[in-house]
Amino acid sequence: MTNIERASAFTGQPDLSLIICTLNEGAAIRSVVTEISDTLAGISHEIIVVDDNSADNTAAEVLDLARTHPHVRLHVRVNERGLSSAAIKGWDIAHGKYLGVMDGDGQHDPLAIRALAEMIMKGDKDLVCVSRYIGTTETGLSGIRDLGSKAATWATGLVLKVPLSDPMSGCFLMTREYYQSARPKLTGIGFKILLDIAASAPRKPRFGEVKAALRERQGGVSKLDLRVVLDLGALLVEKATGGLLPAKFVLFAGVGLSGVVVYTILLYLGHHFLTVPGQFPIYRYQYNKEDLVNYSLAIWLSMTWNFFLNNLITFRDRRLKGWRMFGGLIRFYIACSLGALISLCLSLFMKDQLHIHYVVAGIIATLISSVWNYWASTLLSWRD
Ligand code: GDD
Ligand code: MN
Repeated sequence: MTNIERASAFTGQPDLSLIICTLNEGAAIRSVVTEISDTLAGISHEIIVVDDNSADNTAAEVLDLARTHPHVRLHVRVNERGLSSAAIKGWDIAHGKYLGVMDGDGQHDPLAIRALAEMIMKGDKDLVCVSRYIGTTETGLSGIRDLGSKAATWATGLVLKVPLSDPMSGCFLMTREYYQSARPKLTGIGFKILLDIAASAPRKPRFGEVKAALRERQGGVSKLDLRVVLDLGALLVEKATGGLLPAKFVLFAGVGLSGVVVYTILLYLGHHFLTVPGQFPIYRYQYNKEDLVNYSLAIWLSMTWNFFLNNLITFRDRRLKGWRMFGGLIRFYIACSLGALISLCLSLFMKDQLHIHYVVAGIIATLISSVWNYWASTLLSWRD
């Protein structure tokens, strides 16, 4: 199935295109869209809802609304996931001179968005956003989220030097020019699209801020989970290294490290609890069958672990399911086995021909083969 676009009767260039990304927001989306339309009365605008094939009635609600609100459009993505990439999709198909994004659950205050619209249309700013932190540390978030949000803001400021008081904000407007200047370098991973934009654009934005706290969700549940936090960390590393370490590679490497831990534990368990009698010969030597079984099991199981974790975390925006997952798993085994072979040959070569210390040679070879593993499994298993 491919993506579905429901274009509206609305033609011509509106001043403002506002993207609302949704995943199961059927309980809130109708009132959010009508409320924001009413608040933006007098400003020419379009509202594009980018829905990731919600299992509830989100799309139906938007379609129904579009019949009476010609400036409302719906774009459904079938196989992709992620707030940031959904916003990018929306802006890519938008017609407005100014481009913006807000949530579909009612947490962003429409009055603040009206204020943003008026501010950016004056023409002396590149980007204007809602900030929870101007002159206060009151966030409107509950205990642990509040702490997490502050920590993330602090880490961001440290790494990126973005001059925004609330780089985690999910509600902002920018000029089309500023968006286009950032577009080639956007990562599109995770939730933090403002951060992505501000860190990808070639220059810091002339920016303005409007203060507003987050409101209560209008039904439904938050999609923020541990993976969103990992995505943010990976995005920060990508931007801090100037793109040398892509966010997805960072996640892949993190999963790889966890695989090493699993491998070690399995080896230990196998060594202590597995008994396979007998020996087998290779060339002039005899080996224990038990060791063969133990190493093979540990390699196979930790590779399987890595596959499922990558499917859940690194490539969750294109997660494989059912038979496609099975095919992807087999191809992942092939990619990683080749990776192991590359690592082995490189280690031997570096140790004997280049006279590099055997541990250093092993580590360098593993790093190189992890780049191979990443590249090959992206191509073989999680191709776009
Ligand atoms: N299309 C699409 N795809 N939309 C998504 C996805 C996805 O994979 N995941 C989440 N969304 C939508 C939700 O439906 C909602 O409209 C919006 O993105 C924000 O998701 P929430 O789950 O409500 O996030 P939150 O309330 O935890 O996060 C809010 O606060 C952050 C700052 O702390 C949002 O405002 C974020 O944008 C903001 O960065
Ligand atoms: Mn929310």
